Amino acid sequence: RTVTRRRLLGSSAAALGAAGVGAGIYGVAEGGERAQAATGTDTVAWDGPRQAGIATAPPQAHAVFVGLDLLPRVGPAELVGIMKVWTADIARLTQGRPALADTEPELAAAPARLTVTVGFGPGVFAALGRPEAAPPWLAPLPAFAIDRLDPAYTGADLALQVCADDPVTVAHAVRVLVKNVRSLLTVRWTQRGFRRARGTELPGATMRNLMGQVDGTANPEPGTADFDSLVWDDGAGRPWMREGTSMVLRRIRIELDTWDELDRPGRELSVGRTLTTGAPLTGGRETDEPDFTATDRNGIPVIPPSAHIARARHTRSGERIFRRVYNYDDPPAPGQVSNSGLLFVSFQRDITSQFLPIQRRLDEFDALNEWTTPVGSAVFAIPPGAGSGSYIGEGLLG
Ligand code: HEM
Repeated sequence: RTVTRRRLLGSSAAALGAAGVGAGIYGVAEGGERAQAATGTDTVAWDGPRQAGIATAPPQAHAVFVGLDLLPRVGPAELVGIMKVWTADIARLTQGRPALADTEPELAAAPARLTVTVGFGPGVFAALGRPEAAPPWLAPLPAFAIDRLDPAYTGADLALQVCADDPVTVAHAVRVLVKNVRSLLTVRWTQRGFRRARGTELPGATMRNLMGQVDGTANPEPGTADFDSLVWDDGAGRPWMREGTSMVLRRIRIELDTWDELDRPGRELSVGRTLTTGAPLTGGRETDEPDFTATDRNGIPVIPPSAHIARARHTRSGERIFRRVYNYDDPPAPGQVSNSGLLFVSFQRDITSQFLPIQRRLDEFDALNEWTTPVGSAVFAIPPGAGSGSYIGEGLLG
């Protein structure tokens, strides 16, 4: 029996039609006044020389990372098609407008600071038949002794980082972006992450990971010259990458059950910072510089040389990276209590000279390794941004 539109909607809902889209739902009350505290209509500019979602601060509360593989028939022309569709979708969705032929246009009315960042894996350059166009650092990371990589979370030809302060917005954007190109791509993995909900803490508070640690203190600050020189590519040798960058995504499982067994002093020594404020063990405030030379009255270093921050600290200024991490907390396997960890995400202009030396030291030794295990790994070149009249990746594909 045919289900009519009228039957599905009911007569009064049908009478409302599409006129109710947006109004009365997101921020604009029936009488036209702005409802208190609705931040769903906030937008982040999508266009410009650099892609959004990297220097966007504070990082949005929710993120989904999607790794996609190109189907064998995809060549240069299809890649251009994918990037044009994505750019058009991004231009509309991030500004609170439905995508073209959006089947759920109401969901687009709350962009909630939506950003979409597109990344190219090595497979893009293979599909183009131009492996020499790829930055030299664009390759799977070397195998580390600490790694227990699951192919289900490793590598991909293309990546989407979709961030917003609202999880419904993120889900809708991911759905639109993926379904519009599904004849050319398959999804290899989807990784969902979160930070504190917007408004839970005062603006400026550094996030906490699920180990309870303040995570993100020693980080270059978006908008500073320091950040710009560490993150954005200058185009030397590869003009199409100018104002682009690289993204490393490591899925790192955290053994919360054994972490629970460690007392507070042990937890603080393993990182080198206090749990209460995130201050270094040698200082009083979160932003104080750690003193790695300080010793106690028995001559023992206050921050152990094996502590995570002692091992991760840069050995030269240009070795720094920008971390923009998210927690994950997925359903545990039967018989397990938790399946949690960190979607470790870092942006840096050069993986080889910035990320790799740090990761090598952590692989060699890091007190945190006892409770953390990398289970997924992928690297991407993040092309520069686009604007109306251009598309993301045009410098390479155009
Ligand atoms: C610092 C946690 C993995 C690089 C920190 C801090 C915490 C932390 C709590 C101190 C506060 C801060 O400055 O943010 C973790 C956890 C990890 C993890 C729980 C895994 C689950 C990694 C990885 C890298 C890394 C894989 C890079 C390869 C750094 C760097 C710092 C840092 C560069 C700043 C060090 C400094 O100069 O003081 N991390 N981290 N971390 N972490 Fe990690």
